[in-house]
Amino acid sequence: MQIDILGICGSPVKGGNTEVFLSECLKATEAEGDVNTKLISLAGKDIKDCRHCNWCLRKQEENKFCAQQDDMQEIYQAMVEADAVLFASPAYIGRLSGYMACMIDRLRAFVYGNQYGGKLKNKVGGALAVAWGRNSGLETTLLSLVSAIFILGMIPVIPLASPGSPFGAAGVSSEGGTGRFNREDKLLVLRDEYGLVGARGLGKRLVEVTRLLKVGGGALSGQGR
Ligand SMILES: Cc1cc2nc3c(=O)[nH]c(=O)nc-3n(C[C@H](O)[C@H](O)[C@H](O)COP(=O)(O)O)c2cc1C
Repeated sequence: MQIDILGICGSPVKGGNTEVFLSECLKATEAEGDVNTKLISLAGKDIKDCRHCNWCLRKQEENKFCAQQDDMQEIYQAMVEADAVLFASPAYIGRLSGYMACMIDRLRAFVYGNQYGGKLKNKVGGALAVAWGRNSGLETTLLSLVSAIFILGMIPVIPLASPGSPFGAAGVSSEGGTGRFNREDKLLVLRDEYGLVGARGLGKRLVEVTRLLKVGGGALSGQGR
């Protein structure tokens, strides 16, 4: 059974630590076999703030999710197609980035939308965060992502059998999370073995739960989700 996993990276830095951390997680999902992955980076994308105009409550039509026409269209479409979604953000002042917050606010179209309300319900969700320091906001950033996963009606998963965070995968982008800079290497998260165990464990667990739900949904409806 093939499953489709979408990863969304909320860093404005293309190919930065958050994106490569998310890529490692996606690679771990692919290693489970029969998994199709897609990574969307928010870097350089035009994603406007939700205006609270309530258009989505009454006026959604097929493939029309929101009144605003911008790069969210691609994300809405990809989310509808995905079985599971990974939300990855750098820690910005101890919580998710503004880019990620903007994107997540626009997902209200999947909560109350007249056509797409409930569309993310029972899809599986996981959170990843990358911070400069080991103890300067990783878990609060993960919790800010996990709260969105709950509110969207998704099924949250965390990495099991890892000594890392119980809220998702947590990586550091300074030397060992100490805040030390390394001029030669700007992608230090790839040297954070402790964090990478969490990212890979999250990927594995995401596939396991997504398969269970897909089989279960198919058994209940006789035809899949
Ligand atoms: C506006 C801003 C706020 C930040 N706040 C924190 C923070 O609270 N804690 C922390 O450890 N790092 C913080 N950082 C550092 C980033 O989380 C860190 O450099 C991360 O690796 C960036 O990911 P990227 O390489 O994908 O851009 C902040 C960086 C910026 C630009």
